[in-house]
Amino acid sequence: MSNLAVVGTQWGDEGKGKIVDLLSEEVDIIARYQGGNNAGHTVRVGEEEFIFHLIPSGILHPHKKCLIGNGVVIDLKSFLEEIDYLKSKGVEFDDNLLIAENAHLTMPYHKILDRIIDASRGKGKLGTTGRGIGTTYTDKSARVGIRVADLLDEETFREKLEINLEEKNYLLEKIYNHKKVNSERILEEYLSYGRQIEKYVCNVSLFLNRALDEGKKILFEGAQGALLDIDFGTYPYVTSSNPIAGAASTGLGIGPTKIDKVLGVTKAYTTRVGEGPFPTQFSSEFEEGMRMRGREYGATTGRPRRCGWFDAVIVRHAVRVNGLDGLAITKLDVLDELEKIKVCVGYNYGGKLLEEFPSLLKVVRKCQPVYEEMEGWKEDTSQVRDYVDLPRRAKEYLQRIAELVKADVSLISVGPGRKQTIILKDLMK
Ligand code: GDP
Ligand code: IMO
Ligand code: MG
Repeated sequence: MSNLAVVGTQWGDEGKGKIVDLLSEEVDIIARYQGGNNAGHTVRVGEEEFIFHLIPSGILHPHKKCLIGNGVVIDLKSFLEEIDYLKSKGVEFDDNLLIAENAHLTMPYHKILDRIIDASRGKGKLGTTGRGIGTTYTDKSARVGIRVADLLDEETFREKLEINLEEKNYLLEKIYNHKKVNSERILEEYLSYGRQIEKYVCNVSLFLNRALDEGKKILFEGAQGALLDIDFGTYPYVTSSNPIAGAASTGLGIGPTKIDKVLGVTKAYTTRVGEGPFPTQFSSEFEEGMRMRGREYGATTGRPRRCGWFDAVIVRHAVRVNGLDGLAITKLDVLDELEKIKVCVGYNYGGKLLEEFPSLLKVVRKCQPVYEEMEGWKEDTSQVRDYVDLPRRAKEYLQRIAELVKADVSLISVGPGRKQTIILKDLMK
């Protein structure tokens, strides 16, 4: 019986939500360990679609505990809205949802500053989600952040808020020429949030470690993807946390020995939302067609996602930094109609073949993808449920991907629905 981390291996939006929901059936606890409401994880059940930003994608399974760990930055307004959204859809979960008392809070000034700072970068903007993610993690690292437990103690909260507002209002007014935020309003708003969330707050590390001692099975849910990792991604065009599997340990307060297996979710092609290098991005005409076929619009911001060919260099990098045990290849069906399909096997950098992802952005920008072209299968795969029934050329495509990235394919997804899945190897056994 293994505990499994499920992580993104590209620039996010690989279909982690679908895979986490699917595998939640087999576990007792689903735990988010990083990121915040910049994430948008979609789960389709029958005709109904759910999008989760902070709440783990296992929440639709009654009797499974869903935890939000200390590594996650929590915007309580968004959290409470998500709860209302779920309740409006008839999802019952009050006893199942827990948030870490030592998680950091995203405050209104974090969101304002995130937007102002990114806009002030002009052409060099990162294209953040504007959710205050980077600014919240900045305060966490600067040791001035406000944590969930602080909010539940009015005196502590007042004190910390006052100190923060002094600095933030100075920045807003004097540096960014923006109006100040109102401290009384924030105080009232947040104290009310505190009362509403109190019932969900706990020591997640203690809870998880006790559950592990009892032999409970855990799924660690990553947000974003390896190429958005603050250390291993296309820095500075990254998010401000570590989406890679190792962060499940620090983001939940469990030892690294408790993460038994890691499953990487990988789109059968590549997408990216926001700015930053993307070597295999399609030309604009072709991109539009793929965007329509794959419905590639951001689940959080609605922005059109940039689309491109499968890039084995980035996924190989993700396999290594995550220590992946297997891949879940998603959205294979989106390629069904293509005559030819290209796979990037390496980069040409000034006449030299690079097979590993370069750390220096300047180098990445000058890399030209080296492609292998494969014949498309031109058959509908969305109804296939057994590997043997996949078209021969689709199997060849999957085999070539596995070979190039040096990881086995454990699961194949051929549509957003739960049943549109082919399982080759159960990593939790
Ligand atoms: P996440 O952030 O990794 O959870 O991914 P998103 O939810 O942002 O984006 C993935 C999108 O693809 C969602 O709209 C899913 O419903 C959809 N999806 C997931 N798997 C498949 C698949 O195999 N085929 C198709 N056509 N859509 C899929
Ligand atoms: P899921 O979990 C795709 C991108 C943003 C931007 C960069 C930094 O749904 O896969 P941030 O707001 O985090 O400071 O923005 O990271 N980004 C994502 N892209 N999927 C996500 O999450 C993302 N979360 C952040 O578009 O380029
Ligand atoms: Mg997403």
